[in-house]
Amino acid sequence: MNVAFYERIWMWAATAIIAIFLGAIFVTAAAQAVEPPSHIETVDPTTILSHPEFGKPAITTRPDGSVVVPVVAGMFSFAPDPIEVPANVRVTFRLTSADIIHGFQVVGTNANAMAIPGYVSQFTVTFPKPGEYAIACNEYCGLLHHNMVGKLVVK
Ligand code: CUA
Repeated sequence: MNVAFYERIWMWAATAIIAIFLGAIFVTAAAQAVEPPSHIETVDPTTILSHPEFGKPAITTRPDGSVVVPVVAGMFSFAPDPIEVPANVRVTFRLTSADIIHGFQVVGTNANAMAIPGYVSQFTVTFPKPGEYAIACNEYCGLLHHNMVGKLVVK
């Protein structure tokens, strides 16, 4: 079969692009701890205000010293805000939404998850550096999306 020279160039280019994209997935998964969601837990978004954990989300400390932070994202803020956690301690965020899909990204760290109504997104991170971090919503959620910013204080 005779494949034209330019056709061959484009075939190799397409193959290289696929290899780069697949490689990027493996590199980020291995080196930057990017994980697919693995925790399936549901919550009724219509009764979130009276929910024992998410109604008045409060930060709790487990007997082993690790910290659990329930977070409710809603148009256009996060609760609680600010979130205060200790440095160098395992922090488990349990995240849900009261209305529509929001993002929860602690800027400058790899803490980043979607807040999905009806589901609890859970992930655990450790913040080695004390300081103030912005929490940004990175899913477009409406007219005031750009104002949906929270604060994380690592002490
Ligand atoms: Cu919430 Cu964008």
